[in-house]
Amino acid sequence: MFETILFPTDFSDVAEKALDFVKRMKDAGTKKVVVLHVIKKQSLEVIAQYSSIRDFHEVEQEIEGDARRELRRIADELRGLGVEVSVRIETGFPVREIMRVEAEEGVSAIVIGSHGLSNVKEILLGSVSESVIRKAVGPVLVVKR
Ligand SMILES: Nc1ncnc2c1ncn2[C@@H]1O[C@H](COP(=O)(O)OP(=O)(O)OP(=O)(O)O)[C@@H](O)[C@H]1O
Ligand SMILES: [Mg+2]
Repeated sequence: MFETILFPTDFSDVAEKALDFVKRMKDAGTKKVVVLHVIKKQSLEVIAQYSSIRDFHEVEQEIEGDARRELRRIADELRGLGVEVSVRIETGFPVREIMRVEAEEGVSAIVIGSHGLSNVKEILLGSVSESVIRKAVGPVLVVKR
């Protein structure tokens, strides 16, 4: 039932809490975890607006390098537990990419944090988690902050 898990992460504290949950899913029959980070196209566009082309490429590569390092750390942690891991990094709109990867990877369930980097106290669900719950084809496990 939970054979292939999609774990989208923005590397926030809440997503790390969701990762703790993913780590325990081997007991629920999980064999493979797809770890996904989406670099927000909008953030890149803002950077592009305020920097020269050369600076932009530098910043873009730095963002991607940081993301790859974080993804490698997460992948190592999961592989250490004996789970197969596939890592994906995409650029675009997070929800759209999460839905695309769900379809492409034959995912059984998505594990996501209720909130992410913004983590506004008054808000019940982040915008990414809310849209993923609305649009996902399969079940979504929401790990609360
Ligand atoms: N860029 C991203 N790439 C992959 N997963 C993401 C990304 N952004 C959010 N997520 C996932 O969605 C969860 C909820 O984050 P979300 O962005 O909805 O909350 P927020 O940052 O508190 O609110 P908002 O972004 O609406 O201001 C995260 O814990 C993470 O699992
Ligand atoms: Mg967010």
